[in-house]
Amino acid sequence: MSPYDSDMDTWDAITSRRNVRAYADRPIAPEDLDRILEAGRRAPSASNRQMWDFIVCTDRPQLQELSKVWRGAGHVASSMATIVLMTPKADEDRIRVLAQFDLGQVAMSMMIAAASLGIGSGHAAVGDQDLARQILGFPEDRLCAFLIALGYPADRPLAPLKRVNRRPFEEVVHRGHW
Ligand SMILES: Cc1cc2nc3c(=O)[nH]c(=O)nc-3n(C[C@H](O)[C@H](O)[C@H](O)COP(=O)(O)O)c2cc1C
Repeated sequence: MSPYDSDMDTWDAITSRRNVRAYADRPIAPEDLDRILEAGRRAPSASNRQMWDFIVCTDRPQLQELSKVWRGAGHVASSMATIVLMTPKADEDRIRVLAQFDLGQVAMSMMIAAASLGIGSGHAAVGDQDLARQILGFPEDRLCAFLIALGYPADRPLAPLKRVNRRPFEEVVHRGHW
């Protein structure tokens, strides 16, 4: 029997994911955290370049420091864990764009994997690269691209959302031509 037999199905995980920025005081099991990281590692990438590394942070004082790298990263301070998405610095625009696209796929895979376990996630951008480097010790040729804060939601458990704050389906979807 798989340890994941109690998971939500994929559609439920997709429709339950929402940005969670306040976390219950409940730790994330190490095997669940590893599963979320593995979901990211398995993401597809252009030419399979895999221009990424992940730094997992669980130490409270470190999370508090990390929350200062961007004005919209406050929720990182109280997360149970935060995954830092790293990418190599690239000279070519084309490579930079591909790396960002690939990181987006990593982020979404991680977030869906987290949602399937009932674990909430919240993005944060990174403004201050020097501070991030000081906290995380990554080399000069790398950039700290995004943070994904994780934790069980403080407000209510994840459940499929009935209504979402999105542009209407008919406006977004074009069939056959614009
Ligand atoms: C590239 C990217 C960067 C984001 N940066 C931040 C951020 O710095 N701080 C934050 O609180 N939310 C951030 N978000 C979360 C978005 O605001 C959120 O996904 C959006 O409002 C939709 O809400 P939902 O995720 O609950 O569906 C970011 C999302 C993306 C995709």
